[in-house]
Order: sequence, then structure tokens, then C-alpha cells
Amino acid sequence: MSTEHGTQSDSRRSHGMFRTKTVEQSIQDTEEPEHALKKSLSVLDLTVFGVGVVIGTGIFVLTGKIAKEQAGPAVALSFVVAGVVCALAALCYAEFASTVPVAGSAYTFSYASLGELPAWIIGWDLVLELALGCAVVAVGWSGYVRSLLDTAGVQLPAGLSGTHEGEFGFDLLACVLVLLLTGILVLGMKLSSRVTAVVVGIKVTVVLLVIVAGAFLITGSNYEPFVPPSKPTEGGGGLAAPLVQLMFGFTPADFGTMGIFTAAAVVFFAFIGFDIVATAAEETRNPQRDVPRGILGSLAICTFLYVAVSVVVTGMQKYTKLSTDAPLADAFKDLGHPFFAGLISFGAAVGLTSVCMILLLGQSRVFFAMSRDGLLPRVFSRVHPSFGTPYRSTLLLGGVVAVVAGFTSIDELAELVNIGTLFAFVVVAIGVVLLRRSRPDLPRSFRTPLVPLVPVLSVLASLWLMINLPAETWVRFAIWMGVGFVVYFVYGRSHSRLGIRGRQNRKV
Ligand code: ALA
Repeated sequence: MSTEHGTQSDSRRSHGMFRTKTVEQSIQDTEEPEHALKKSLSVLDLTVFGVGVVIGTGIFVLTGKIAKEQAGPAVALSFVVAGVVCALAALCYAEFASTVPVAGSAYTFSYASLGELPAWIIGWDLVLELALGCAVVAVGWSGYVRSLLDTAGVQLPAGLSGTHEGEFGFDLLACVLVLLLTGILVLGMKLSSRVTAVVVGIKVTVVLLVIVAGAFLITGSNYEPFVPPSKPTEGGGGLAAPLVQLMFGFTPADFGTMGIFTAAAVVFFAFIGFDIVATAAEETRNPQRDVPRGILGSLAICTFLYVAVSVVVTGMQKYTKLSTDAPLADAFKDLGHPFFAGLISFGAAVGLTSVCMILLLGQSRVFFAMSRDGLLPRVFSRVHPSFGTPYRSTLLLGGVVAVVAGFTSIDELAELVNIGTLFAFVVVAIGVVLLRRSRPDLPRSFRTPLVPLVPVLSVLASLWLMINLPAETWVRFAIWMGVGFVVYFVYGRSHSRLGIRGRQNRKV
């Protein structure tokens, strides 16, 4: 398949930081018989998988928290804005998934289109989406389990109940969940589509229950004002203010029209995960038709559910009174419906575990792919002899994520996850355009419409949400990426398998 073209670009770009790994080579690396995936997924399976990964903490926790702190009832509009940004990115991911159907997601795609250093940067960046994302979901999960225990009259000591309003507490439940999931992943548990379907069934039922039961408890006056007037951020903002406000010299403020966008940048978290669906292209019977339908279909369903839940929950309780730990359940509890509250907490607790597990699974695959390429120590890509899983990378990552989940508070984490994911969206959109130019010959079972317009809009929309994140998130992001550069130059650059092959070829 187009090897002539591949060989030319190989010889042109086989050394240096921008050496690219050909698409053919990426696919070849995964073609050992024991790793050949069965093409069995339909559009329904993909949609179920998408909804299963996407619906999580975002809806069960962030709706209330963000309505209370940044947007008021207009949080529903923030979900629409975030949904549009994701739809643009989804169109780019769908093309990439159909062209390079290989584990490693944006990392592998960047290696094929932009070169080794950008691929490394993306791989390093994906840790923020996947590993940190897993920690955030674990923390959200523990909030719901505590609410459930509370309903049953059991209370954990404050010191083990996570950090609240500046008071440090170790999040025991979040930490234990991650360790348990790590164990399951090492043992090689495969989430069959039937299991995923059951979890999705529970989750969607709970969300629909909130919408239907909650609709009867709406008080119209709770929507007034729908877009609360903008007010200066408490404490003047400083680095906690969105970058865009600092850049253009606005007084840092919450609520108001700007608040809708600031909030969109945060609730964007609720959509994270659909990019993992794109990687299922390899296992889809008819990827050209089904992957875009699956991705866009799950996005549409999630956006609808998110908007409906936001409208209902901010109608049930004045946004200023919503709880930040388990807002949906607590709203029902406060209105005298503890049974519904218990049911919601139960559904959230079940539903969030699968999100957490799939994010950790995604992370271990990216780490595995990077280690297989030699950019991280190769020992981490060794597969367990009997379980057949990349157990070393899973154990390492699971351990780290468990500690992070135990010690850090949810909002600090969520924003870093968002900036990491949005950055990956930017790179993927650029990658689509570049790969069209450098490898027009590659078979693309799905083509992003209106290239380069859609990728350009995707880049701009993602950047817009990124600059609506707090400046301190940018500082943390810059530090993380700076560490990544150092690791690449100290280790990855000289150990890269592609680099080693290139050096060997030049000697011959
Ligand atoms: N979108 C996922 C969630 O909201 C990560 O939990």
C-alpha cells in the first residue's frame, strides 16, 4: 500500500526530532496475530461505548459546581458551547481513526503526520487527559459514594473524606477505587460490549430519572436570573482568572456572558472520552459510515442529556444552594426525596467506575505504545506471560493515579485535564491537514468534511476554550510540558527505535 510514497518520506525524514513513523510501519507493529482485532462493532455498539465512556463526573458533579460558581442556570449554554467544540474535533478524530487505526490515539497519529517530537509531546500531554482524567473521575466517584453512605447513616472521618474548601483530607475511597481497577486491568478483564451496555443502561436510566422526576420539582423563580450578572472574581482573580481576561486586561469576573465561556472550558470535561471511541475504528465493521455516526451520535445524545440535566437541576434548586460534591443527589435530598437521592448516587457510583477504568485503560495503551517505540523504557511494553496485559505500565500508572486521586482536589485536576485534551484536539486537527498534504495517497475510510475549514475551526474553537481556562492551569500545563521536553532530550531521543533504525540504515 503506497510503499513508494512511504519510502520516499522515510528517507527524507528518517532522522532528527521530526522523523515520522510511516502509517504502514505503525500498522505493521500491531499486526502480530495475537493482537489482531475482530471487526465486529456496529454503529449501535460504538454509540453505547461512547455514552459509556463520556457520561461521568462531568454531569454528576460539575453541573452543580459550575452552576454555583461560574455560570448559574446558563450552565446549560456552556454545555452547548463545549458540545460544538467537541463535534468539530470529533470530525477530525474520525478521519484519523479511519486512516491510522492503531492503539495510542493522538500519539500514534502525530508520529505519522508531524514527527517524533510532536508525537512525544502529545503522548506526554495525553497523560493529563487519561491518567489525570481517571483521578478526577475517581474523586467524583468517591463524592457520590460518600453521599450514598451518608444516606445509609455511615460517615467516614473528615480526614479520609477528601479535600473540601481548603481543608485537606486524604480521599481514601478514590485511592482504593483506582487500586482495584488497576488490579482488574492487570488481570486482563475485558469489558465486553454487553457489560458496557449494562453500565450504560444504569447510567442513562439514572440521568433520565433526574430529568423526568426533577422536571416535576422545578420552581420557575430559580431561573431568575438565567444569566446572573457578572461579578468580580472573589479575591481579584490573579492567576485563578481565565487567561483571556488577563490577556485583554478585563477585570476577572465570574458569571455574565464571559462566565458562559469560562464555564464551557470547565464543563468540557463532561465530553472527554469520545476520542477514545475513535480508536475503535479498527474494530468496526463499516468504519466509513459507522465511526462518524457513532462519535457524533454519542456526542449528540450526551449534549442533549447534559443540557436537560442542567436545566432541571438549576430549576430544582437555586444555583447558589447546589452542593458541589454530589449536586444531583443532594438536590433531591434537600427537596425531601431521599429515595431518589439514593438511587442517583447508586447509579452514579456504578456508572463512574467504567469511565475511570476505560480512561486508565487508554492511558496504559498510550504508555505502552510509547514504550514499544522506545521513547519510554522498553521494559514497560512487556506483556504479562499469562494475563496478556501490559501489566508493568498498568501497575506503575495505577499506583501514580491512586496517589494523585488521594491527595488532590477535583477542580485543580479537572482544568488540567481539559487543557491537556484541548491541546491534543489542536494537534490532531493540524495533523489531519498535514497528513492530507504529505500522504494524499492513504486510504481514508472517513474524510473530515471541508478540509481545511473544519480543522481550522476546530483549532480556533479549542484554543478559545483553552484561553478561557485559568492562568494557573496554563502555568501547571507549561511546567508539565517542560518536564516532558527534558525527559525526551535526556532519554527518548537517543532510545527511539525509529532513530536507532535510521542510524543503522545510514551505516549500512
Ligand atoms: N467525560 C467523563 C466524565 O465526565 C470523563 O467523567
